[in-house]
Amino acid sequence: MLKEIEKNVKGCQKCRLYKTALNPVPGEGSKFPKIVFVGEAPGKYEDESGRPFVGRAGKFLDTLLGKIGYKREEVWIGNVIKHRPPENRDPLPDEIAACKEYLTLQLQILSPTLIVTLGRFAMNYFYPEGKISRDRGRLIRAGGYNIFPIYHPAAGLRNPRMLEALEEDFMRIPAVLKKINQGDFERDSEVKEDDKSADGQLHLL
Ligand code: URA
Repeated sequence: MLKEIEKNVKGCQKCRLYKTALNPVPGEGSKFPKIVFVGEAPGKYEDESGRPFVGRAGKFLDTLLGKIGYKREEVWIGNVIKHRPPENRDPLPDEIAACKEYLTLQLQILSPTLIVTLGRFAMNYFYPEGKISRDRGRLIRAGGYNIFPIYHPAAGLRNPRMLEALEEDFMRIPAVLKKINQGDFERDSEVKEDDKSADGQLHLL
């Protein structure tokens, strides 16, 4: 079924991006991942290779994964947008809408315990009201998933303040996973149910 989605992504012409991209980047990794990482869109190297996060930000993601004891093959890595936007511009709302069903279907099949979103576009995919500077490093229950938004590795490489926050949040991923596995979050969510944030989402951490 994942293969079927990949096939559809490869032939996708639902928005303009296929015209300028070299290769689609469906996503890759474990078929039974506990953790899924979702980025924004392929960049130059991803476009050339058809693989997610293989450029500078990707190497940094691999390093961060190593620090928490994971190999890239043990998680699944993908993007909101499957074709590279020209000149790495931000994806447009109609492109995000056109691409939406691919990631939705992939996640239904992968059924991860935790989705770590990298940057604001990935966070807003699950949680449109989210603000990355406010919500990064908080476990959020949205769209039926446990979402842990963090800064994008590329932002961390550009900005030392974001780098510090990104590393700090990333190192907490194993503890967040443990908390979910222990079912602590259910107790937490009961507590927080009373004082749901103004945005109506459950913030679990
Ligand atoms: N940035 C992303 O958001 N995704 C990639 O695959 C590479 C860089």
